[in-house]
Amino acid sequence: MFGDQLVPTPCKVVARRDENSDTSTLTLAAPSQWFPGFRPGQFMMVYARGVGEIPLSISGDPTHADHTVVHTVRAVGAVSRALHEASIGDIVGVRGPFGTGWDLDSAKDDLIVVAGGVGLAAVRSAVLEAQACGRFRRVVLSVGARRPSDLLYRPDLDTWSRGDLVDLELSVDVAEPDWQGHVGFVTQSLNRLVLEPGRTTVLLCGPEPMMRMSARTMIGQGVERENIRVSLERNMQCGTGVCGHCQLGELLLCRDGPVVDYRAAEPLLAVKEL
Ligand SMILES: Cc1cc2nc3c(=O)[nH]c(=O)nc-3n(C[C@H](O)[C@H](O)[C@H](O)COP(=O)(O)OP(=O)(O)OC[C@H]3O[C@@H](n4cnc5c(N)ncnc54)[C@H](O)[C@@H]3O)c2cc1C
Ligand code: FES
Repeated sequence: MFGDQLVPTPCKVVARRDENSDTSTLTLAAPSQWFPGFRPGQFMMVYARGVGEIPLSISGDPTHADHTVVHTVRAVGAVSRALHEASIGDIVGVRGPFGTGWDLDSAKDDLIVVAGGVGLAAVRSAVLEAQACGRFRRVVLSVGARRPSDLLYRPDLDTWSRGDLVDLELSVDVAEPDWQGHVGFVTQSLNRLVLEPGRTTVLLCGPEPMMRMSARTMIGQGVERENIRVSLERNMQCGTGVCGHCQLGELLLCRDGPVVDYRAAEPLLAVKEL
C-alpha cells in the first residue's frame, strides 16, 4: 500500500509518453518509498492536486519492482485531463493498490485477452506477467480501437506482433492510410479463433457493449462463464469498501471487483450507472 489507505502519497511524474492525442502513460515515483507491488488488474486512486481523484488501472510491468507505478490515462473530464496534461516533475497523489486482479495463477493453459480502447491499460500488466511466467500454452491478445492512430502501447504491440508467445489481433472501427489489419469489431476476430474451450480462460476489458458481445461470442464457442473474467468500471470515491459509491448489485466494485467472473457480471452489465 502506498501511504495510508485514505491519504494519498505525493509522487513525482518521472516519465511520460503520449500514446495518442488524448491518452498518455505516466510513470510516478514516490520519493522514499518502495512500491509494494500489485496484482495485474488492480487500480490506484490518483489525485490531481486541486482538481480531484479518479481510479486508474496499474498498467506497468508487475514483474519489475521498484519505487514507481505506471498509469495510462485518457482525458475524458476534468481530473483525467489534468493528469493527462501533467509534466515531468509535477506532483500527483497516489493511494492503493485496490481491488481484485485477473488472478492468472488460477487461469487455464490458454489465455484469451480482449481489450477495447483504454481497456488495454488494465490488461497490459496481465499480458506482461503471462509472458514472463512462461506457464501458458498460448496467449491471444485481441485489441480494438477506433482508429489505428488511437492504438496504445505501440512498442509493446510491435514486440507482441513479432513474438512467439502472444498472438496479436488488431481491429479498428475506421481504417487510415497504410492500415493492413482488420476493420470491424473485435468479436469478428474472436469468431475466427480455433480454441479448446475447456482449456481456455478469457479476460475482457473495455466498453461494456464490447465486453458483452465478446463474452457471448466466447460462450458460443463453448467457454464456461466461470472462465470468463471482466473488469467492471463504476465511479469510485474511497476505494476501500466504505462509501458505497461503487455499488453495483450486491458488489462493491472497489473491493469485490473491478475484476469479477462472468457469472456475477452478466446480470450487472445490463445495469446502467446513475
Ligand atoms: C477500476 C477502474 C480503473 C480505471 N482505469 C482507467 C485507466 O487505466 N485509464 C483511464 O483513462 N481511465 C480509467 N478508468 C476510468 C477513469 O476513472 C474515468 O475516466 C475518470 O474517473 C473520469 O473522471 P474525470 O473527472 O476525468 O471525468 P468526469 O467529469 O467524471 O467524466 C467525463 C466524462 O467521462 C465519462 N466517464 C466517466 N467515467 C468513465 C468511465 N469509467 N468510462 C468511460 N467514461 C467515463 C463520464 O460519463 C463523462 O461523460 C478506470 C475506472 C475504474 C473504475
Ligand atoms: S469506492 Fe467507496 S465503497 Fe467502493
